[in-house]
Amino acid sequence: METAAEGEFGGNLKRQLEKLFIWAPDPNNALYLQLSLVASKGPNRKFGDYQCNDIVHRLLSLRVPGDYVEQIEKTVVENLPASEMVKSCSVTGPGFINVVISAEYMAKSIEKMLINGIDTWAPNLPVKRAVVDFYSPNIAEAIHVGHLRSPIIGDTLARLLDYSKVEVLRRNHVGDSGTQLGMLIEYLFENFPAVLTIQDLEVSYKLSKKKFDKDPDFKKKAQCAAVLLQNGDPVYFEAWARICEISRTESTKVIQRLQVKLEEKGQSFYIPYIPNMIEELTTKGLVEEMNGARVISIQDVKTPLTLVKKDGGFTYRTTDMAALWYRLNEEKAEWIIYVTDAGQREHFDKLFKAARKAGWLPANDTTYPRASHVGFGLVRGGEDGRFRSWYSKTVRLVSLLNEAKACSRMSLLKRGKDKEWTHEELDQTAEAVGDSLVKFADLKKNRLTSYTFSYDKMLCDKGKTAVYLLYAHARICSIIKKSGKDIDELKKAGKLALDHADERALGLHLLRFSETVEEACTKLLPHVLCEYLYGLSKQSSKFYKNCQVNGSAEETSRLLLCEATAIVIRKCFHLLGITPVYKL
Ligand code: ARG
Repeated sequence: METAAEGEFGGNLKRQLEKLFIWAPDPNNALYLQLSLVASKGPNRKFGDYQCNDIVHRLLSLRVPGDYVEQIEKTVVENLPASEMVKSCSVTGPGFINVVISAEYMAKSIEKMLINGIDTWAPNLPVKRAVVDFYSPNIAEAIHVGHLRSPIIGDTLARLLDYSKVEVLRRNHVGDSGTQLGMLIEYLFENFPAVLTIQDLEVSYKLSKKKFDKDPDFKKKAQCAAVLLQNGDPVYFEAWARICEISRTESTKVIQRLQVKLEEKGQSFYIPYIPNMIEELTTKGLVEEMNGARVISIQDVKTPLTLVKKDGGFTYRTTDMAALWYRLNEEKAEWIIYVTDAGQREHFDKLFKAARKAGWLPANDTTYPRASHVGFGLVRGGEDGRFRSWYSKTVRLVSLLNEAKACSRMSLLKRGKDKEWTHEELDQTAEAVGDSLVKFADLKKNRLTSYTFSYDKMLCDKGKTAVYLLYAHARICSIIKKSGKDIDELKKAGKLALDHADERALGLHLLRFSETVEEACTKLLPHVLCEYLYGLSKQSSKFYKNCQVNGSAEETSRLLLCEATAIVIRKCFHLLGITPVYKL
């Protein structure tokens, strides 16, 4: 008889349970079916903690007659290997098996986590190293609200992977080469030959594009400039380096303010790798000549991927092909993740198809090495359409964060916090809350949907907002603090019991942390973790509303449950880039 192995406490509960759900009518027979489970939510919860409901579908796919389903379900349940994890397992109607987890097992699991740390609950991914390519603004482009989502989503994905023991290379693939730089440099030569400010740059960025579209002579000059730059011409190189430096100073302000770590390896970094890359593709017979350009044609895609333009210039795609080659071969990344707006889907689709054609990536896009485009929708203006005008006036992202901070400071002042706290505490809390509410408002939405930005909604302390989550955490911490107990001593000696229904529900929610992180990470969907965290905060409020902690007979156990909840909430905060506060 099998029992849960020692080392298996914690970790991915769903996966461990699934190991028990195998249908093998005859051990010597090759017929073997691994069933999958889903966590019960909402009204289904009354049937158990996990459900197996794919049995009919799976049996039919094996051509097992439908009449046998019930019989097979019974066999699965009757032959379930004994396990500490399962309290009971039953068939509730054809096609459904319900599992109730043992409260003792949950309690032991949480006790272990309290002693060994939350890292023991980290998922194991079949990847050692990943590249996350995010933020990546274009040189000289003003950083505005449109640049908000990539660093927020990218940072969370990097954190999720990092927590899952994957080495993450965080890459800022800035747009610092190609025709746009040629246009800009030519324009600056004509209009700003002397010292430059970031404002000059941002204005020139827009005007050079206008001129490029209108003036054919300028267009030619700009294209020549791009090729000269690409070939390392010293005059152009010097101008380029100066522009990049000014632009970098501006764009890093946002990254620093958002506390996002990122290493710049812009498009130009990959230029030296282009010749060999093209040679490799040419040797493989993939490069064709087309109207003077060198291209790769891709099945089912109308326009081929241009590697070298007629004038010898490289494109955005050329540097991306070289970057992909570099990341796979030099950096040995097994998963390369690109976080950009959904508008670039076609670009990445083409890029990945070309890489598959070249044999750099496997035919199946779910096997590793793997490349994924993480697209996201737009941030729309508020009720008053504020953002539309912000977009056109390119209001800076840092001012948006400052406004969020100002809003949260106002709400703290309204609650008289200036009388309770020092000036510094007030400032730090306002900033932590302000930044967190911007981040969470962004991450909680399925990234593909566009959303409307509203400070009022974000600042609400009810509903799915960072303020609500920060409150939930601060409240748990204050319960622990008020007890006056040394929580580290309790962890060593105390026992945890999950007897009350709300204790049990909270315990189960905690145990689902690992499978949730794994899902968010493998599907590249941060909102999955946000949903979990919101659910956890609601469950914890329910718990302390219905279960007295301090001064009760169950005090030790309940304090341990509070501590475990605070630890999991803080880990979620960490993964979402939210700074916890202890007073609110
Ligand atoms: N600079 C590009 C832009 O602003 C985003 C770059 C994304 N990364 C990449 N490897 N293509 O649209």
